[in-house]
Amino acid sequence: MGIKGEIRGRKRESDVRMVLGEDDWVVRLENGVKFGYNLTKCMFSAGNINERRRMGEIIIKNDIIVDLYAGIGYYSLPILNNQMAKHVYSFEWNPIAISALRRNIEINDIDEARCSIIEGDNRITTNELKDIADRVILGLLPSSLEGLKPALRVLKYDGGILHIHGLGRSLNYEDWVSDVEEKLVNENYKINRKNLIKVKSYSPHWDHLVLDLFLERK
Ligand SMILES: C[S@@+](CC[C@H](N)C(=O)[O-])C[C@H]1O[C@@H](n2cnc3c(N)ncnc32)[C@H](O)[C@@H]1O
Repeated sequence: MGIKGEIRGRKRESDVRMVLGEDDWVVRLENGVKFGYNLTKCMFSAGNINERRRMGEIIIKNDIIVDLYAGIGYYSLPILNNQMAKHVYSFEWNPIAISALRRNIEINDIDEARCSIIEGDNRITTNELKDIADRVILGLLPSSLEGLKPALRVLKYDGGILHIHGLGRSLNYEDWVSDVEEKLVNENYKINRKNLIKVKSYSPHWDHLVLDLFLERK
């Protein structure tokens, strides 16, 4: 049994404290997917449940996906659970989250040949993996904009879809959307279509949003 704490730092670690028992490994079953993690070390945002399900459902046959901020597999697992996905590249720099992700691939009976776990800072490790992804997930808060360049690096030459997470003012999402679009102006891609989703309320006056950008080479 543990006492809830804050999520802290760039590794989004949990501050839960154990008050009873030693073993802090827990497994949550959600939409047929088992999410195992160390309660005192890794975060789990219950409020992202719909977005986790959506990522598992929108996959197109033979899609190749890059999950830039994979953690324990919040999005990688639902996607891999959908047999349509050809391969998922899961980037993560927190060794504790990586060992949970490895264990989760096993406990969900996922063929490990369909998933590559790439350890390290994705701003560096993506240099090894260019022009492969149909879809890139930038699932980091409060902002994932530092992941835009790595995302464009791994995106297929002709284009694909970015799922960009961030925070927008509850009464005016447009500011955040245009801020993201501005960052893409000088890049080699044009925005064909976009789709904006509210994932959850994040704090008073701020909402957790995802912007799906359908990009095509200019
Ligand atoms: C906690 S997850 C995000 C939560 C998840 N999107 C969700 O919906 O619940 C963010 C992960 O990105 C990892 N991360 C942050 N910056 C990174 C970087 N530059 N390279 C690789 N991993 C990074 C953190 O260690 C963390 O595990």
